Amino acid sequence: MKRVAVLASGRGSNFQAVIDAIGEGYIPAECAGLISDNPGAYAIERARKAGIPFFIVDYSLYASKEDYESALLPAMQSLHADLFVLAGYMRILGARIVREFPGRIINIHPALLPSFAGLHAQRQALEYGVKVSGCTVHFVDEGMDSGPIIVQSCVPVLPGDDEESLSERILSREHLCLPWAVRAFCEGRIRVEGRRVSITGEPPPPPG
Ligand code: GAR
Repeated sequence: MKRVAVLASGRGSNFQAVIDAIGEGYIPAECAGLISDNPGAYAIERARKAGIPFFIVDYSLYASKEDYESALLPAMQSLHADLFVLAGYMRILGARIVREFPGRIINIHPALLPSFAGLHAQRQALEYGVKVSGCTVHFVDEGMDSGPIIVQSCVPVLPGDDEESLSERILSREHLCLPWAVRAFCEGRIRVEGRRVSITGEPPPPPG
């Protein structure tokens, strides 16, 4: 049984999607734990309710990102996870951490990368005026939202959309794509060659 750990900074609906998919047997894994950088994150409440161990590494208590990551790294190591899932984790992981877990960290991003990396991806998409957007699950490398892409799913940007309505539409795709990617990882069906990721078996969720 693989061990999947999650890092989340906020609401944690993607974390919940992973918990539920594990609970339903769709993802053949156990949830090793949650780590949050934010003591007010609702994700912590979700872990508590599901009986999943959680660790708070409160970013605001550290003088620098380096100090914070010096605490984050042993917390991550202590979970003995095969896979770390960044599910609404709103920081860029430093190179030291990324190098510690090569090919074992994935992230969900609310845009079709490489467009609109970074924060407020849905707002960026609206401001740019694209007609479709979506979500991306990708491996984490040392850049910002730049690692090899595992799965993407698109949604239309509709006239009259605001950040909230577009985010909601994208989120419903996230909740399908993230469990799908975690399942493929846990079943050993993902192969990475350079930037190209191939996945055997189950087809990806269709576009929204
Ligand atoms: C999700 O839309 C996720 O893609 C995004 O934050 C939201 C978290 O929602 N992540 C990023 O923007 C990372 N740069 P959740 O806490 O309900 O899963």
